[in-house]
Amino acid sequence: MKRLLMLLALIASANVHAQKFDGLADTPQMGWNSWNSFACDINEKLIRDTADAMVRLGLKDAGYQYVNIDDCWHGKRDKDGFIHPDPERFPSGMKALADYVHGKGLKLGIYSDAGATTCGGKPGSRGHEYQDAKTYADWGIDYIKYDWCDTKGLSAVGAYTTMRDAIRAAGRPMLFSMCEWGDNKPWEWAKDIGHSWRTTADIYPCWNCDLNHDAFSRLGVLRILDRQAGLRKYSGPGHWNDMDMLEVGMGMTEDEDRAHFAIWAMMASPLILGNDLRKMPEATLRILSNKDVIAINQDKAGIQAWKFFDDGRLEYWAKPLANNEWAVMILNRGEQAVNLSYDWKANLVSDELSKRAVDFKQATYAWRDIWGGKSGDTGRKLEARVAPHSVLLLRLKNKG
Ligand code: GLA
Repeated sequence: MKRLLMLLALIASANVHAQKFDGLADTPQMGWNSWNSFACDINEKLIRDTADAMVRLGLKDAGYQYVNIDDCWHGKRDKDGFIHPDPERFPSGMKALADYVHGKGLKLGIYSDAGATTCGGKPGSRGHEYQDAKTYADWGIDYIKYDWCDTKGLSAVGAYTTMRDAIRAAGRPMLFSMCEWGDNKPWEWAKDIGHSWRTTADIYPCWNCDLNHDAFSRLGVLRILDRQAGLRKYSGPGHWNDMDMLEVGMGMTEDEDRAHFAIWAMMASPLILGNDLRKMPEATLRILSNKDVIAINQDKAGIQAWKFFDDGRLEYWAKPLANNEWAVMILNRGEQAVNLSYDWKANLVSDELSKRAVDFKQATYAWRDIWGGKSGDTGRKLEARVAPHSVLLLRLKNKG
Protein backbone atom coordinates (compact mmCIF):
# COMPACT_ATOMS: atom_id res chain seq x y z
CA MET A 1 0.00 0.00 0.00
CA LYS A 2 2.80 2.39 0.96
CA ARG A 3 4.50 1.73 -2.38
CA LEU A 4 1.24 2.53 -4.16
CA LEU A 5 0.86 5.84 -2.34
CA MET A 6 4.44 6.73 -3.18
CA LEU A 7 3.71 5.90 -6.78
CA LEU A 8 0.65 8.13 -6.84
CA ALA A 9 2.71 10.98 -5.39
CA LEU A 10 5.29 10.36 -8.13
CA ILE A 11 2.69 10.49 -10.89
CA ALA A 12 1.11 13.62 -9.40
CA SER A 13 4.46 15.38 -9.29
CA ALA A 14 5.52 14.21 -12.75
CA ASN A 15 6.69 17.08 -14.88
CA VAL A 16 4.14 17.68 -17.62
CA HIS A 17 7.01 18.72 -19.87
CA ALA A 18 9.03 15.62 -19.20
CA GLN A 19 12.01 14.94 -21.42
CA LYS A 20 14.01 11.90 -22.25
CA PHE A 21 17.34 11.62 -20.46
CA ASP A 22 20.09 13.24 -22.52
CA GLY A 23 23.60 11.95 -23.00
CA LEU A 24 22.76 8.24 -22.88
CA ALA A 25 23.29 7.56 -26.58
CA ASP A 26 25.56 10.25 -27.99
CA THR A 27 26.91 7.39 -30.08
CA PRO A 28 24.84 4.29 -30.95
CA GLN A 29 24.39 2.01 -27.95
CA MET A 30 26.44 -1.20 -27.79
CA GLY A 31 25.65 -4.36 -25.87
CA TRP A 32 24.07 -7.80 -26.01
CA ASN A 33 20.47 -9.03 -25.95
CA SER A 34 19.11 -12.48 -25.11
CA TRP A 35 16.40 -12.79 -27.79
CA ASN A 36 18.16 -13.90 -30.99
CA SER A 37 19.86 -16.89 -29.36
CA PHE A 38 17.62 -17.79 -26.46
CA ALA A 39 14.11 -16.41 -27.05
CA CYS A 40 12.12 -17.28 -23.89
CA ASP A 41 14.69 -19.74 -22.54
CA ILE A 42 16.48 -17.32 -20.23
CA ASN A 43 17.48 -17.23 -16.57
CA GLU A 44 19.73 -15.30 -14.21
CA LYS A 45 22.69 -17.64 -14.65
CA LEU A 46 22.71 -17.01 -18.40
CA ILE A 47 22.73 -13.27 -17.77
CA ARG A 48 25.56 -13.50 -15.23
CA ASP A 49 27.59 -15.83 -17.46
CA THR A 50 27.07 -13.47 -20.40
CA ALA A 51 28.29 -10.50 -18.35
CA ASP A 52 31.34 -12.55 -17.32
CA ALA A 53 32.01 -13.45 -20.96
CA MET A 54 31.71 -9.84 -22.08
CA VAL A 55 34.51 -8.90 -19.72
CA ARG A 56 36.65 -12.02 -20.26
CA LEU A 57 36.54 -11.82 -24.06
CA GLY A 58 37.44 -8.14 -24.15
CA LEU A 59 34.04 -7.13 -25.52
CA LYS A 60 33.54 -4.70 -22.66
CA ASP A 61 36.88 -3.08 -23.50
CA ALA A 62 35.79 -2.93 -27.14
CA GLY A 63 32.79 -0.80 -26.07
CA TYR A 64 29.91 -3.22 -25.44
CA GLN A 65 28.21 -2.01 -22.30
CA TYR A 66 24.62 -3.22 -21.94
CA VAL A 67 23.52 -6.74 -21.03
CA ASN A 68 19.88 -6.77 -22.08
CA ILE A 69 17.25 -9.23 -20.92
CA ASP A 70 14.58 -9.52 -23.60
CA ASP A 71 11.07 -10.99 -23.35
CA CYS A 72 9.96 -13.66 -20.86
CA TRP A 73 11.77 -12.66 -17.67
CA HIS A 74 8.40 -11.87 -16.14
CA GLY A 75 6.55 -13.54 -13.32
CA LYS A 76 3.23 -12.14 -12.16
CA ARG A 77 1.92 -8.79 -10.98
CA ASP A 78 1.12 -8.71 -7.25
CA LYS A 79 -2.17 -7.52 -5.77
CA ASP A 80 -0.99 -3.89 -6.01
CA GLY A 81 -0.01 -4.32 -9.63
CA PHE A 82 3.78 -4.45 -9.17
CA ILE A 83 5.58 -6.79 -11.57
CA HIS A 84 7.96 -9.47 -10.28
CA PRO A 85 10.45 -11.58 -12.19
CA ASP A 86 9.76 -15.28 -12.75
CA PRO A 87 10.78 -16.74 -9.36
CA GLU A 88 12.14 -19.93 -10.90
CA ARG A 89 14.23 -18.35 -13.63
CA PHE A 90 15.34 -15.32 -11.62
CA PRO A 91 15.28 -16.57 -8.00
CA SER A 92 17.73 -13.92 -6.72
CA GLY A 93 15.62 -11.10 -8.14
CA MET A 94 16.47 -8.31 -10.54
CA LYS A 95 18.14 -6.02 -8.01
CA ALA A 96 20.73 -8.69 -7.22
CA LEU A 97 21.28 -9.28 -10.93
CA ALA A 98 21.73 -5.56 -11.59
CA ASP A 99 24.23 -5.39 -8.72
CA TYR A 100 26.15 -8.29 -10.24
CA VAL A 101 26.23 -6.76 -13.72
CA HIS A 102 27.18 -3.35 -12.32
CA GLY A 103 29.95 -5.01 -10.35
CA LYS A 104 31.46 -6.05 -13.69
CA GLY A 105 31.38 -2.44 -14.90
CA LEU A 106 28.46 -3.21 -17.23
CA LYS A 107 24.82 -2.10 -17.38
CA LEU A 108 21.59 -4.06 -17.27
CA GLY A 109 18.70 -3.75 -19.70
CA ILE A 110 15.16 -5.06 -19.49
CA TYR A 111 12.22 -5.50 -21.86
CA SER A 112 8.59 -4.54 -21.75
CA ASP A 113 5.76 -3.78 -24.13
CA ALA A 114 3.30 -0.94 -24.65
CA GLY A 115 0.37 -3.37 -24.79
CA ALA A 116 -1.24 -5.46 -22.07
CA THR A 117 0.82 -8.49 -23.08
CA THR A 118 4.31 -8.76 -24.56
CA CYS A 119 5.04 -10.55 -27.83
CA GLY A 120 5.86 -13.62 -25.74
CA GLY A 121 2.50 -13.44 -23.91
CA LYS A 122 3.87 -12.02 -20.63
CA PRO A 123 2.44 -9.03 -18.74
CA GLY A 124 3.01 -5.80 -20.69
CA SER A 125 3.12 -2.30 -19.25
CA ARG A 126 -0.20 -0.95 -20.53
CA GLY A 127 -1.85 0.85 -17.60
CA HIS A 128 1.24 0.19 -15.42
CA GLU A 129 3.77 2.48 -17.11
CA TYR A 130 4.70 4.65 -14.11
CA GLN A 131 4.69 1.68 -11.79
CA ASP A 132 6.92 -0.38 -14.07
CA ALA A 133 9.39 2.43 -14.76
CA LYS A 134 9.68 3.05 -11.02
CA THR A 135 10.15 -0.67 -10.37
CA TYR A 136 12.91 -0.91 -13.00
CA ALA A 137 14.58 2.19 -11.54
CA ASP A 138 14.47 0.65 -8.04
CA TRP A 139 16.06 -2.51 -9.40
CA GLY A 140 18.90 -0.50 -10.96
CA ILE A 141 17.96 -1.04 -14.60
CA ASP A 142 19.81 1.09 -17.17
CA TYR A 143 18.01 0.34 -20.46
CA ILE A 144 14.42 -0.36 -21.46
CA LYS A 145 13.49 -1.99 -24.74
CA TYR A 146 9.80 -1.27 -25.29
CA ASP A 147 7.92 -3.48 -27.73
CA TRP A 148 4.70 -3.02 -29.68
CA CYS A 149 2.66 -6.25 -29.44
CA ASP A 150 -0.99 -6.28 -28.37
CA THR A 151 -1.45 -2.56 -29.03
CA LYS A 152 -4.54 -2.53 -31.22
CA GLY A 153 -6.26 0.84 -30.82
CA LEU A 154 -3.28 2.44 -29.05
CA SER A 155 -1.58 5.53 -30.44
CA ALA A 156 2.13 4.87 -30.83
CA VAL A 157 3.04 8.50 -30.13
CA GLY A 158 0.88 8.44 -27.00
CA ALA A 159 2.10 5.08 -25.70
CA TYR A 160 5.81 5.81 -26.19
CA THR A 161 5.45 9.33 -24.79
CA THR A 162 3.74 7.95 -21.68
CA MET A 163 6.63 5.55 -21.07
CA ARG A 164 9.19 8.29 -21.76
CA ASP A 165 7.46 10.45 -19.13
CA ALA A 166 7.26 7.53 -16.72
CA ILE A 167 11.01 6.95 -17.05
CA ARG A 168 11.67 10.64 -16.41
CA ALA A 169 9.39 10.55 -13.35
CA ALA A 170 11.16 7.44 -12.03
CA GLY A 171 14.28 9.60 -11.98
CA ARG A 172 16.87 7.06 -13.14
CA PRO A 173 18.61 7.62 -16.48
CA MET A 174 17.49 4.59 -18.50
CA LEU A 175 18.13 4.40 -22.23
CA PHE A 176 14.78 4.11 -24.01
CA SER A 177 14.98 1.72 -26.96
CA MET A 178 11.75 1.82 -28.94
CA CYS A 179 10.79 -1.40 -30.68
CA GLU A 180 7.78 -0.40 -32.77
CA TRP A 181 9.15 -1.94 -36.00
CA GLY A 182 8.66 1.27 -37.99
CA ASP A 183 4.89 0.72 -38.26
CA ASN A 184 4.05 4.33 -37.39
CA LYS A 185 7.19 5.99 -38.78
CA PRO A 186 8.72 6.73 -35.37
CA TRP A 187 11.62 8.55 -37.09
CA GLU A 188 9.15 11.35 -37.80
CA TRP A 189 8.09 11.92 -34.20
CA ALA A 190 10.33 10.09 -31.72
CA LYS A 191 13.47 12.23 -31.64
CA ASP A 192 12.55 13.60 -28.21
CA ILE A 193 10.99 10.36 -26.99
CA GLY A 194 13.44 7.50 -27.54
CA HIS A 195 17.17 7.07 -27.94
CA SER A 196 16.62 4.69 -30.84
CA TRP A 197 13.73 3.19 -32.77
CA ARG A 198 13.50 -0.02 -34.70
CA THR A 199 12.91 0.66 -38.37
CA THR A 200 11.73 -2.79 -39.52
CA ALA A 201 10.36 -6.20 -38.62
CA ASP A 202 12.73 -8.63 -36.88
CA ILE A 203 16.03 -9.65 -38.38
CA TYR A 204 16.85 -13.21 -39.49
CA PRO A 205 20.38 -14.56 -40.04
CA CYS A 206 20.37 -14.66 -43.82
CA TRP A 207 21.80 -12.43 -46.51
CA ASN A 208 18.71 -11.55 -48.51
CA CYS A 209 15.68 -13.56 -47.39
CA ASP A 210 12.20 -12.50 -46.38
CA LEU A 211 10.44 -15.03 -44.14
CA ASN A 212 6.91 -13.83 -44.52
CA HIS A 213 5.12 -16.90 -43.27
CA ASP A 214 3.15 -15.46 -40.39
CA ALA A 215 2.13 -12.13 -38.86
CA PHE A 216 5.75 -11.49 -37.90
CA SER A 217 7.85 -11.46 -41.02
CA ARG A 218 11.62 -11.67 -40.55
CA LEU A 219 14.15 -10.06 -42.81
CA GLY A 220 17.70 -10.75 -43.94
CA VAL A 221 20.58 -8.26 -43.86
CA LEU A 222 20.04 -6.70 -47.30
CA ARG A 223 16.26 -6.50 -46.84
CA ILE A 224 16.81 -4.44 -43.71
CA LEU A 225 19.42 -2.26 -45.42
CA ASP A 226 17.01 -1.55 -48.29
CA ARG A 227 14.33 -0.42 -45.86
CA GLN A 228 16.59 2.36 -44.55
CA ALA A 229 16.10 4.40 -47.73
CA GLY A 230 15.13 7.96 -46.84
CA LEU A 231 15.73 7.54 -43.11
CA ARG A 232 19.24 8.88 -42.63
CA LYS A 233 18.15 12.44 -42.08
CA TYR A 234 16.30 11.36 -38.93
CA SER A 235 19.35 9.77 -37.29
CA GLY A 236 21.94 11.50 -35.15
CA PRO A 237 23.51 11.70 -31.70
CA GLY A 238 20.91 10.67 -29.10
CA HIS A 239 18.36 9.28 -31.60
CA TRP A 240 19.32 6.44 -33.90
CA ASN A 241 17.67 4.32 -36.58
CA ASP A 242 17.84 0.80 -35.11
CA MET A 243 18.27 -1.91 -37.75
CA ASP A 244 17.72 -4.60 -35.08
CA MET A 245 20.09 -6.80 -33.15
CA LEU A 246 23.09 -8.43 -34.75
CA GLU A 247 23.03 -11.94 -36.20
CA VAL A 248 26.81 -12.21 -36.45
CA GLY A 249 27.84 -15.73 -35.41
CA MET A 250 24.33 -17.07 -35.99
CA GLY A 251 24.79 -19.13 -39.13
CA MET A 252 25.75 -16.87 -42.02
CA THR A 253 29.15 -17.20 -43.73
CA GLU A 254 32.15 -15.31 -42.43
CA ASP A 255 32.00 -12.88 -45.37
CA GLU A 256 28.31 -12.27 -44.73
CA ASP A 257 28.93 -11.76 -41.02
CA ARG A 258 31.68 -9.24 -41.75
CA ALA A 259 29.47 -7.42 -44.24
CA HIS A 260 26.50 -7.41 -41.83
CA PHE A 261 28.66 -5.91 -39.08
CA ALA A 262 30.17 -3.32 -41.45
CA ILE A 263 26.75 -2.28 -42.77
CA TRP A 264 25.38 -1.77 -39.23
CA ALA A 265 28.50 0.24 -38.39
CA MET A 266 28.19 2.43 -41.49
CA MET A 267 24.49 3.04 -40.84
CA ALA A 268 25.17 4.14 -37.24
CA SER A 269 22.77 1.47 -35.99
CA PRO A 270 22.98 0.30 -32.37
CA LEU A 271 25.36 -2.68 -32.10
CA ILE A 272 23.55 -5.21 -29.94
CA LEU A 273 25.08 -8.69 -30.10
CA GLY A 274 22.65 -11.59 -30.48
CA ASN A 275 24.90 -14.64 -30.33
CA ASP A 276 25.75 -16.92 -27.41
CA LEU A 277 28.84 -15.27 -25.92
CA ARG A 278 29.61 -18.28 -23.73
CA LYS A 279 30.72 -20.33 -26.73
CA MET A 280 31.86 -18.11 -29.51
CA PRO A 281 34.27 -19.17 -32.28
CA GLU A 282 37.47 -17.10 -32.58
CA ALA A 283 36.43 -15.88 -36.04
CA THR A 284 33.17 -14.44 -34.69
CA LEU A 285 34.94 -12.74 -31.82
CA ARG A 286 37.45 -11.21 -34.23
CA ILE A 287 34.60 -9.67 -36.23
CA LEU A 288 32.67 -8.35 -33.24
CA SER A 289 35.68 -6.86 -31.53
CA ASN A 290 37.22 -5.21 -34.58
CA LYS A 291 38.14 -1.81 -33.17
CA ASP A 292 38.27 -0.08 -36.56
CA VAL A 293 34.75 -1.12 -37.52
CA ILE A 294 33.43 -0.18 -34.08
CA ALA A 295 35.16 3.21 -34.40
CA ILE A 296 33.22 3.88 -37.60
CA ASN A 297 29.95 3.12 -35.81
CA GLN A 298 30.91 5.11 -32.73
CA ASP A 299 32.28 8.11 -34.60
CA LYS A 300 31.41 11.30 -32.75
CA ALA A 301 29.97 13.07 -35.80
CA GLY A 302 27.12 10.52 -35.70
CA ILE A 303 26.27 10.68 -39.42
CA GLN A 304 24.62 7.71 -41.12
CA ALA A 305 26.12 6.54 -44.42
CA TRP A 306 24.53 6.98 -47.83
CA LYS A 307 25.04 5.30 -51.19
CA PHE A 308 26.92 7.70 -53.45
CA PHE A 309 27.50 5.47 -56.44
CA ASP A 310 26.25 2.21 -57.92
CA ASP A 311 28.00 0.65 -60.91
CA GLY A 312 25.40 -2.09 -61.30
CA ARG A 313 27.61 -4.71 -59.70
CA LEU A 314 28.87 -2.91 -56.60
CA GLU A 315 27.40 -0.26 -54.33
CA TYR A 316 29.59 2.52 -52.93
CA TRP A 317 28.60 3.92 -49.54
CA ALA A 318 30.20 6.83 -47.68
CA LYS A 319 30.06 7.89 -44.04
CA PRO A 320 31.53 11.27 -43.10
CA LEU A 321 33.57 10.92 -39.90
CA ALA A 322 34.83 13.47 -37.40
CA ASN A 323 38.14 15.26 -38.16
CA ASN A 324 37.42 15.35 -41.86
CA GLU A 325 37.91 11.57 -42.21
CA TRP A 326 35.63 9.24 -44.17
CA ALA A 327 34.58 5.63 -44.18
CA VAL A 328 33.82 4.04 -47.56
CA MET A 329 32.13 0.66 -47.95
CA ILE A 330 31.97 -1.16 -51.26
CA LEU A 331 29.22 -3.77 -51.16
CA ASN A 332 28.87 -6.81 -53.38
CA ARG A 333 25.30 -8.01 -52.93
CA GLY A 334 25.59 -10.56 -55.71
CA GLU A 335 26.60 -14.16 -56.28
CA GLN A 336 29.76 -13.50 -58.31
CA ALA A 337 33.11 -12.08 -57.19
CA VAL A 338 33.79 -8.70 -58.78
CA ASN A 339 37.20 -7.44 -59.86
CA LEU A 340 37.07 -3.78 -59.17
CA SER A 341 39.04 -0.94 -60.69
CA TYR A 342 37.66 2.28 -59.27
CA ASP A 343 38.78 5.75 -60.23
CA TRP A 344 38.26 7.90 -57.15
CA LYS A 345 38.29 11.00 -59.31
CA ALA A 346 35.24 9.87 -61.25
CA ASN A 347 32.75 10.78 -58.53
CA LEU A 348 32.33 13.81 -56.35
CA VAL A 349 31.30 12.56 -52.91
CA SER A 350 28.94 15.23 -51.68
CA ASP A 351 26.46 15.08 -48.82
CA GLU A 352 23.58 17.55 -48.76
CA LEU A 353 22.69 16.55 -45.22
CA SER A 354 25.99 17.03 -43.41
CA LYS A 355 27.35 19.54 -45.95
CA ARG A 356 30.47 17.41 -46.18
CA ALA A 357 32.02 16.83 -49.58
CA VAL A 358 35.22 15.50 -51.04
CA ASP A 359 36.50 15.92 -54.56
CA PHE A 360 39.36 13.50 -55.13
CA LYS A 361 40.54 15.61 -58.07
CA GLN A 362 41.42 18.29 -55.54
CA ALA A 363 42.44 16.32 -52.46
CA THR A 364 44.30 13.06 -51.99
CA TYR A 365 43.26 10.77 -49.16
CA ALA A 366 45.17 7.81 -47.78
CA TRP A 367 42.99 4.72 -47.40
CA ARG A 368 43.29 1.63 -45.21
CA ASP A 369 41.40 -1.59 -45.87
CA ILE A 370 39.97 -2.48 -42.48
CA TRP A 371 39.39 -6.22 -42.97
CA GLY A 372 42.22 -6.86 -45.42
CA GLY A 373 44.96 -4.66 -43.97
CA LYS A 374 46.11 -3.16 -47.31
CA SER A 375 46.61 0.55 -47.80
CA GLY A 376 46.94 3.05 -50.62
CA ASP A 377 45.75 6.46 -51.67
CA THR A 378 43.07 8.01 -53.81
CA GLY A 379 45.60 9.38 -56.28
CA ARG A 380 45.58 5.94 -57.93
CA LYS A 381 42.74 3.63 -58.98
CA LEU A 382 41.50 1.24 -56.33
CA GLU A 383 42.09 -2.33 -57.54
CA ALA A 384 40.52 -5.14 -55.56
CA ARG A 385 38.54 -8.35 -55.78
CA VAL A 386 35.29 -8.22 -53.83
CA ALA A 387 33.92 -11.67 -52.97
CA PRO A 388 30.18 -12.40 -53.30
CA HIS A 389 28.10 -11.33 -50.28
CA SER A 390 30.91 -9.24 -48.89
CA VAL A 391 32.20 -5.73 -48.42
CA LEU A 392 35.43 -3.85 -48.80
CA LEU A 393 35.59 -1.40 -45.92
CA LEU A 394 38.02 1.52 -46.06
CA ARG A 395 38.94 4.38 -43.76
CA LEU A 396 40.15 7.54 -45.50
CA LYS A 397 42.35 10.28 -44.11
CA ASN A 398 43.29 13.50 -45.87
CA LYS A 399 46.99 13.46 -46.82
CA GLY A 400 46.98 17.27 -46.76
C1 GLA B 1 9.36 -8.73 -30.99
C2 GLA B 1 10.63 -7.88 -31.08
C3 GLA B 1 11.84 -8.78 -30.89
C4 GLA B 1 11.75 -9.50 -29.55
C5 GLA B 1 10.43 -10.27 -29.45
C6 GLA B 1 10.20 -10.79 -28.03
O1 GLA B 1 9.27 -9.61 -32.08
O2 GLA B 1 10.69 -7.19 -32.28
O3 GLA B 1 13.03 -8.04 -30.98
O4 GLA B 1 11.86 -8.56 -28.52
O5 GLA B 1 9.32 -9.44 -29.77
O6 GLA B 1 9.00 -11.49 -27.90
